[in-house]
Amino acid sequence: MNVTIKTPSEQDKMRVAGRLAADVLDMIAEYVKAGITTGELNQICHEYIVETQDAIPAPLNYRGFPKSICTSVNHVVCHGIPGERRLKSGDILNIDITVIKDEFHGDTSRMFFVGKPGVQAERVSKVAFEALWLGIEQLGPGKRLGDIGQAIQEHVEKNRCSVVREYCGHGIGRVFHEDPQVLHYGEAGTGMELKAGMTMTVEPMVNAGKRHVRLLPDGWTVVTKDHTLSAQWEHTVLITDTGHEVLTLGADQR
Ligand code: MF3
Ligand code: CO
Ligand code: CO
Repeated sequence: MNVTIKTPSEQDKMRVAGRLAADVLDMIAEYVKAGITTGELNQICHEYIVETQDAIPAPLNYRGFPKSICTSVNHVVCHGIPGERRLKSGDILNIDITVIKDEFHGDTSRMFFVGKPGVQAERVSKVAFEALWLGIEQLGPGKRLGDIGQAIQEHVEKNRCSVVREYCGHGIGRVFHEDPQVLHYGEAGTGMELKAGMTMTVEPMVNAGKRHVRLLPDGWTVVTKDHTLSAQWEHTVLITDTGHEVLTLGADQR
């Protein structure tokens, strides 16, 4: 495994990229309303990243991905492609933003509700959010990847939801997806030991029903096999000498 340790100046660049990615989510929140299409959300984010932030939307053309952000609505687990779909009241969606600034990536996603969410929607989103933070709390020097996976899996399954296994968190830096793979399930005390200067994402995908997923013929869109709702939250995090620093906190979390 080729895990990079970021120097102090690289860590500063990761802080900037992380902040910019979070700023995009703060900016787009007010546009997430019934009647807008996911393609329009993509366009607004694209212009903000390129023109206001003077940054690069990392998904665009990444392994052939056609848009600048991912929008994953209802039973879409991740990697939803923005398009003609018009949001309607009761929809839930994840917006996933990755920007490149000064060669470094910042990657973060949140759930949004269109109008008032149903009981199940609110529950799966809440469980995913709590799972993200339980995972983040585990991060620190000397901790192991399995500690994060177990914390997340335990919480999700205790709440009668399931953890998607086919996709995971990842090291991040000059490269969008670098080592290590950060699984959202596993056993405490196993896996790679974390060291100060590593940067990685935690991004659990939580299904209201069974964990199994299916890839649509577009080659990107991942959906739940049983068509139950799915939720995801993501932060980019730096391991520090004393613990961790979340690099993608939003305005109301700073
Ligand atoms: N942002 C996603 C992640 O959290 C990756 C999206 S890849 C794309 O890792 F090509 F779909 F944009
Ligand atoms: Co990610
Ligand atoms: Co992401």
